[in-house]
Amino acid sequence: MSIEIVTYADEHFGGVGSLWREAFPEDPPWNNAASVIPAKIAFQQHLFFVALETGRVIGSLMAGYDGHRGWVNRIAVLRSHQGQGVGSALMRKAEAQLRIMGCTKINLQVRTSNAQAAEFYRRLGYAIEDRISMSKRIAASALHDDPGTIAKTVDIGERAQSESDMRAQMHELVHRVKNDMQVLRSLLSAAERETENAEAREVLADAARRVSTVAAVQHGIVTQGTESFDTRSFLEALGRNASQSFGRKADIEIDAASGSLPNKTALPLALIVNELITNAVKHGKGERNHVSVKLSLVNRDKESILSVQDDGPGFVPGPPRKRASGLGLVTALAGQLGGKLDVTTNHGARCTVRFGASTPP
Ligand SMILES: Nc1ncnc2c1ncn2[C@@H]1O[C@H](COP(=O)(O)OP(=O)(O)OP(=O)(O)O)[C@@H](O)[C@H]1O
Ligand SMILES: [Mg+2]
Repeated sequence: MSIEIVTYADEHFGGVGSLWREAFPEDPPWNNAASVIPAKIAFQQHLFFVALETGRVIGSLMAGYDGHRGWVNRIAVLRSHQGQGVGSALMRKAEAQLRIMGCTKINLQVRTSNAQAAEFYRRLGYAIEDRISMSKRIAASALHDDPGTIAKTVDIGERAQSESDMRAQMHELVHRVKNDMQVLRSLLSAAERETENAEAREVLADAARRVSTVAAVQHGIVTQGTESFDTRSFLEALGRNASQSFGRKADIEIDAASGSLPNKTALPLALIVNELITNAVKHGKGERNHVSVKLSLVNRDKESILSVQDDGPGFVPGPPRKRASGLGLVTALAGQLGGKLDVTTNHGARCTVRFGASTPP
């Protein structure tokens, strides 16, 4: 049996859901996949692992790190695959990742009635400590009860005087916005999985991809804290995003020299790239199930040229589709950059956006 332990991705949602239904049959509704997964993705998704056997989810584990101690929960292995080392492999993966983050001790809880789980952890070196385990559910009303809330509001004015505090607050804000967008993305992806209607699935997948692009730009740009961004790493990040989203359907090659563009061009440019890559995959695949896409961005003195070329059938004359909106969006965004879109067919479709080095305010 060849088992792979990987970080959770959207495509594992269904598999994890059925695994948890089998492993935790008595779970309350707020512990089902649709409630737990979007929240986990928002916090330390890289500590959410799944075990795969030829692509099928056979195990899961969620870990967390608070900067001092690590935590492990929702470890589950399909009944048919128990006793084969899957649980230990998941634990080793989580331990290694937590160690990388600086964690030196992991805590976990086992129900007193679950002797089998306790024995499993004991074999992995976990020991019972002289502690009592306590917990409390905190209701939303706790927000209003917080005695620090008013004091904190007053404090903020003073604290913001310190530049480094301001930067820390900015980072915190960026982080939260990123998390919110990830939640939004997961909700759209969950809605996509729930619908049987092919057109609705396509619309929801496109929307999820757009949210992801906005999140990547927002995070990449703001965390750099500069006025401009490096075009090569920008394009590489967008290419990675698209590769993740389209998987084996697309091969994305990037050809971009290092250069810099002002931050305000980042969002329109990223959305343009996203639409054009999406089109290349949707329309360039033809009857095949794979497309090669070349993405290039050249900065000249006075202008930048973005081009997306695929190896598909190219633009075929015919009536436009009922719901075609992508190229309209690209044209509008190119206009925002003070540029324009050209489409041609030459060994596949080629879309080029030329825009000025200085964009309109
Ligand atoms: N890379 C491409 N290869 C071949 N044809 C393309 C390519 N990109 C766009 N087209 C053609 O141009 C049309 C318009 O593209 P557009 O992005 O506006 O709409 P869409 O992709 O059909 O729908 P939407 O973007 O709203 O999901 C497409 O329907 C398709 O016929
Ligand atoms: Mg399109």
